[in-house]
Amino acid sequence: MAEVTLDLRGRPKAEAYAELKKHVEAVLEGINDDVAGMATMSCLLHHAFGHLWTGFYRVVEPGKLLRVGPYQGTLGCLEIRFGKGVCGTSAAKGETVVVEDVHAFPGHITCDGRSASEIVVPVFGPNRELIAVLDIDSEHKATFDDVDRRALEELMGWFSRRK
Ligand code: SME
Repeated sequence: MAEVTLDLRGRPKAEAYAELKKHVEAVLEGINDDVAGMATMSCLLHHAFGHLWTGFYRVVEPGKLLRVGPYQGTLGCLEIRFGKGVCGTSAAKGETVVVEDVHAFPGHITCDGRSASEIVVPVFGPNRELIAVLDIDSEHKATFDDVDRRALEELMGWFSRRK
């Protein structure tokens, strides 16, 4: 049944993401709503991989300001300016940023002291406009690599395709 939350820990990453993508698309079938998409993806990604924090920062002032959206984990910062921290860097560049060690990233914003590595993926709407970034934090160093980048960028394609 599509509504069950998957636990994909221990599975090879590429296989886990392929399974997760099918699941996300099945759960969101017929839904045309960014917040519902963000909430569903945060939940499924977070529990599938056991991350520390998984969620979205939405663009509320294009080129200037991100505000927290649906997420799972401990309390997140409410607002991040473009160019600040990992999220703001990804938003300003419109590119995925993979950080192996957050303590080595100048200007990293610490919301939960346990965070050790992270990935931030830009989310584009149907007209290629930046609508949000997906931020995933891990308690372990170097959790994310190119496999995560490719799979998460593909998953975020839902937001540009669905309208
Ligand atoms: N890690 C982010 C801040 C947001 S939280 O960790 C939830 C950053 O430096 O952009």
